[in-house]
Amino acid sequence: MASRGERIKVHCAKPGHTPKAAVQAGMKVYGPRAAPGQTTRTKTPISLRSSIRVHVPAPDPDPCDSPLPDAETIGHAPVLLSETLALLAPGPGQTVLDVTLGRGGHAAALVPLIPGGRLIGLDTDPTNADFARRRLEPLAQQHGVALDVIHANFAGVRSELQKRDVVGVDALLADLGFASNQMDDPQRGLAFRFDGPLDMRLDPTRGRPASEWVNTLSETALADLIYTLGEDRASRRIARKIVERRSVSPIETTEELARTVRAAAGGPGGRGDRRSRPSGANSSRGIDPATRTFMALRIAVNAELDALDALLQALPDLLLPGGRAGIISFHSLEDRRVKQRFLQAQQDDTAQRLTRKPVIAGPAETAENPRSRSAKLRGLQRLADRPQHPARA
Ligand SMILES: C[S@@+](CC[C@H](N)C(=O)[O-])C[C@H]1O[C@@H](n2cnc3c(N)ncnc32)[C@H](O)[C@@H]1O
Repeated sequence: MASRGERIKVHCAKPGHTPKAAVQAGMKVYGPRAAPGQTTRTKTPISLRSSIRVHVPAPDPDPCDSPLPDAETIGHAPVLLSETLALLAPGPGQTVLDVTLGRGGHAAALVPLIPGGRLIGLDTDPTNADFARRRLEPLAQQHGVALDVIHANFAGVRSELQKRDVVGVDALLADLGFASNQMDDPQRGLAFRFDGPLDMRLDPTRGRPASEWVNTLSETALADLIYTLGEDRASRRIARKIVERRSVSPIETTEELARTVRAAAGGPGGRGDRRSRPSGANSSRGIDPATRTFMALRIAVNAELDALDALLQALPDLLLPGGRAGIISFHSLEDRRVKQRFLQAQQDDTAQRLTRKPVIAGPAETAENPRSRSAKLRGLQRLADRPQHPARA
């Protein structure tokens, strides 16, 4: 039990926990005016305090309750859907590997195209993997498709396939980054438009939350991270401000970090503020000065580029001869890697590019789904194995 005057951490609790039970179980609690991740001071022993509210997050509705979960329940619209299906060209009986299942949007469109085939899906986020499995199961059954949903990082995709004796797939899809439902969940700490714990892990069962990174990295390491992964020219100023701010108390919430970064940029109307800078990395695009720092941290916390490098390294061996891969990326650090790897595979004579220039969303899709504006789809096809020369066979 927290005693009078004791500082407690404010997060969110699981359904069904009373404040007392929540506190005793070390659970996370919302205070009357406190935001998740902040600390608040108890005025009375917390178990007696009636004004403490326990935040009960709405559980993911079970998509099996209705045959078709609605868009709000799904919380994510697949980008470049028809373009992806056209590029992968899946057919009956084929094996398709979706290494970023997300909410199952692309996969739900792929399943009916491979009757009698197999769909293997991965997601590093156990919640999304579970949601996708429940969404796809009835569909797979209806079309006679064998379904494997795996909670795993695609960095280890090769061993996941080996464990299942899969020698290769006819089509592979990677739709990189995060899904909208993850971004829109304040408890994930991915977005600064909500206040929440500074976590950012797509797989909350592994790794260190972003708060640990910002509170422990040296000023130089922070500046380098923000510069290389966020491509923010104000990285040194931001790192200095973070170190200054954390010397007072640790930065625990998205709001605290965003405020610190904005202060480094000069605050409203200040030196780095977008309204007062007609040019520059942040101001020219009219984005919040915290955007790039958040992106850099998210990439670092989830080792996103390492995972992508591992996946690209495994390609095109993951494909059967003639098999196709489509990769959708959302920022230049990803797209550059995909572009280079696909070019290299073509030069090695192991595969051919299906796209010289990336496929991007048309005006109708960008109007409907703003997230699609930065999506770039590139495709690769493994060459059919050449017959061995009799002398070398
Ligand atoms: C853009 S969403 C995919 C959305 C999906 N195509 C759909 O239509 O619902 C990206 C998903 O990939 C997952 N993800 C990101 N990095 C991953 C990794 N390295 N390994 C496996 N899954 C990853 C995220 O957790 C997220 O659910």
